[in-house]
Parts: sequence; C-alpha cells; structure tokens
Amino acid sequence: MIRRETRLSIIKSAAKIPAMTTIDELKERIGSISEAMGKDAESLTTPEALEAFRIEYLGRKGKIATLFKTLGTLPQEDRAAAGKLLNELKARANELYTAREESLKEASLGERLAKERVDLTLPGVYHPLGHLHLLTRVQREIEDIFLRMGFDIASGPEIETEYYAFEALNIPANHPARDEWDTFYIDDTRLLRPHTSPVQIRVMKETTPPVRVICPGRCYRRDTQDATHSPVFHQVELLWVEEGLSLANLKYVIEYFVHEFFGEGYEMRMSGDFFPFTEPSVQVHMRAPGASEWLEIMGAGMVDPAVLTEVGYDPEKVTGFAFGLGVERMAMLRYKIDDIRVFLQNDLRFITQF
Ligand code: PHE
Repeated sequence: MIRRETRLSIIKSAAKIPAMTTIDELKERIGSISEAMGKDAESLTTPEALEAFRIEYLGRKGKIATLFKTLGTLPQEDRAAAGKLLNELKARANELYTAREESLKEASLGERLAKERVDLTLPGVYHPLGHLHLLTRVQREIEDIFLRMGFDIASGPEIETEYYAFEALNIPANHPARDEWDTFYIDDTRLLRPHTSPVQIRVMKETTPPVRVICPGRCYRRDTQDATHSPVFHQVELLWVEEGLSLANLKYVIEYFVHEFFGEGYEMRMSGDFFPFTEPSVQVHMRAPGASEWLEIMGAGMVDPAVLTEVGYDPEKVTGFAFGLGVERMAMLRYKIDDIRVFLQNDLRFITQF
C-alpha cells in the first residue's frame, strides 16, 4: 500500500516538469540548470553536500534525467541535437562532480595528515635519569685507588657487638677511651658500629698475614650534628699486616692515596694522636687550595701488638698499620662543601649538582 503511494508521488513529481515542446525551451532549461549547477558545485565542501549534488543533478530522478525524459516530446528532427545538448550537460555535471570529489578527497587527506602529523623535532617525554649519590661515587673512587694498589675490599655488619667494636680493639669496658665513640646501643651487647675498625678484627680472625684490605661502610655516632659532624657517616678502613712494615710505609700509602684522589694543590699534615688499637697513632689533616681551615680526614697508626695478639697473630713476626678515613670529609674537601649535613638531606638542588 505504502509502496504504491510512493510510486504515485514519483509519477506526480515527474509530471510536474512541464513537457518541452520546442528545442529553444529545452536550451533555456539546459542553460539555467547549467548555471545553477556551476554555482552549487562551488559551495561543495562536505561529502554530504557532494552526495546531495549528485542526487540533484545526476541521480536517477535528478534534474538531468528528468530533462532526458522530455526528449520524446520534441519534434523528431530536433531530437538528435537536443540529445547532444543534454549529453553535454550531463558530461559537465559529471566533470564538476568528479573535480569536487577529487578536491574534497585531497582536503580530507590533508586534514588527516595534519592531524596525524608527528613532529619529530618536538622534545620527547622526559624521564629524568638518576645517578649515583656523590658519596657513593667518592667511595667507589677511593676503592678504585686501593684496588689498583693491590688491596682487597672487605665488609662487616653495621650492627656490631661490644667485642668487635671495642674489646678486641684494646678498649676494655669502662675504659675512658670509649667516650671517643659515643655509641648507639641497641641492647646490652649489640650496638651500631661507631667506626669501621671492627672489620679489621673480623678480617684478621679469618685470614693469615699478609693482609691487605680496605673496608668501606656506614658508621653511627651519637654526635651532635654540626657542619662537620653527623650521626651517620661513612668511613673507609684500611689494614695492611705483613712482615717488616713500618710507619714509613703507612706515610707513603697515605701520601700516594691523597695525591691520587686530590691531585696537586692540597696540603697534608700528620700529627701525633692516640687510639687504643694503634701505637704510635697519628691523625691526618688536609687543607684545600686557598682554604684556611684544616679538616681531619683520618686517624691512623701502627696496629697495636695487643690487637695482633688478640686475633692470633705474632707481633714479633708481623707488623701492620691501619687507618680510618672519613668519606664525607674527602668529598667536602674536593667539592668545597662546607656542611656535612647536606649529604643526607636528599635535597635535589644539592644532589643534582654532582
Ligand atoms: N677507628 C678510628 C676512628 O674512627 C680511626 C682509626 C682507624 C684510627 C684505624 C687508627 C687506625 O676514629
């Protein structure tokens, strides 16, 4: 039922077109359609408009098809000429259509390319790369120098017993020298090591001379924080035990190391000191070029015979020397850092400078 109505309406609309009677009337219609078509084609900017144009002019029921239907109403002798004119009109419509179709395709391709364009000159997503902390780097540099000199690297626990931290190092309980190492106790027997010297004992108990080791590591002291003291800091312990070593060898090793680490221009000063586990004992101070302050970088000395005996060595046969070097202080001297606290504050403005 609906279908029939639709068909009817088509017939009606086709019937609306006035039948041509002369070729002149046809020419006039062709002229006005051609003009309208040209104008319409100019404003085709979307695929939808293009499709509407096609239906209006080139469709089965479009303006041109409708004109073709009027051919039969023309006088016989005009039909060939009229057909030619209509074919030309149709060809022009096709031309306009394809030209617009082409340029729309180009435009949309251009649009897509513009949208999908990847600008290879733009900076990428930035993933900041971290790096080793200055202290770690300085510690490794110190390790490298001693590795080149033939030392091994040893390590020991940060949680120690009184025996390794003090007694074996010739510092008996209640000895006033313990005040030098204001220690964090965990309970009656365990403590956070206040220096790396306990590793000396552990190494010597496990090996026989010659012993040539360094022991880098973290230490803890109940020191009040100030520009040169921190409750957490790092030391590199050195121990060399062998027949025939003297203080001259110790001095040479220190001077060689200091020269390797700092290069020219740094001043070094050795002076007498006291440690229960070395005899004689010295301390070493350094001064950066142009600086007025001396900074203590290590305590050192010849290993006390009591310590050698404690670990089962014969002090009549072997001698040795040791030192405990402050890693932060080495970094401070080299990089002109005037406050030890910055190492552990994790302030990126400091950390990223190195
Ligand atoms: N352990 C000492 C300290 O931390 C330093 C030191 C090590 C001194 C070895 C002599 C020999 O103060």
